[in-house]
Amino acid sequence: MTGDERRQALEGIADEITACTRCRLHEGRARAVPGEGDPDTEVVFVGEGPGFNEDREGRPFVGRAGGLLVRLLASIGWRREDVFITNVVKCRPPDNRDPQPDEIAACAPYLQRQLAVLDPAVVVTLGRYSMAAFMPGVRIGQVHGTTRPIDPETGAGDALAFAMYHPAAALRTQALERESFEDIARVPGVLLRARERRESVAVPSAEGPAPAEGPAPAEPLAGHPDVVSGPGRVNGAGDPAIRPAPPALPTPAVDDPAADEASQLTLF
Ligand code: URA
Repeated sequence: MTGDERRQALEGIADEITACTRCRLHEGRARAVPGEGDPDTEVVFVGEGPGFNEDREGRPFVGRAGGLLVRLLASIGWRREDVFITNVVKCRPPDNRDPQPDEIAACAPYLQRQLAVLDPAVVVTLGRYSMAAFMPGVRIGQVHGTTRPIDPETGAGDALAFAMYHPAAALRTQALERESFEDIARVPGVLLRARERRESVAVPSAEGPAPAEGPAPAEPLAGHPDVVSGPGRVNGAGDPAIRPAPPALPTPAVDDPAADEASQLTLF
């Protein structure tokens, strides 16, 4: 798919979401919130559902939680326009209550279709409800900051899921905010690993399915000259001088930060 085709496909899905009446949440909404960002990105952030400000503006993460998300992204040198940001449910639950299972189920095909169009390398889940869609049966306190391969049924078949606390929870509890900054510092390295994983999956091998992923290794700090410069698409419209296709390197061991750092040095 070209960038233009991706953009058009996402706009088509957004139009459907805007007119959606599949569940009761449409009754109370001011505006649906389909999501926004770079159609050519390799990284998609998935939150829970719109809040008061998002419902008014029709855009995701524009309130206080959005402010923290922007600061988290800035801490690794990324901007919200560099990624795609969306939610599990696209309309605001009344009084910001948790989305209910039938509402999540009614909205799931939209997220699935968005992910199929975006074909991200990494899906960052923000909070429990998003995490449950990509990492069923786990607890956020145990898996935040770690990756799992994603079930292709989600639409993001080739991607790694990376779990983070919801920014609203991090705003309420200082320890979670600190851990969120530690977690997001791992995302550039997860992106590198996801790229390499996709490259190796693209070439059929006799090794069988990819092993389950463990905790993500710690990454160099943002601003470090070797850090991944952004979540743009490697095999797309990017400037090949800036974003060369990854050379065939052995995939770094999941728990080996040194190996991951070495791959960054080679890549950029
Ligand atoms: N919380 C979310 O989960 N999503 C938003 O878009 C805003 C706040």
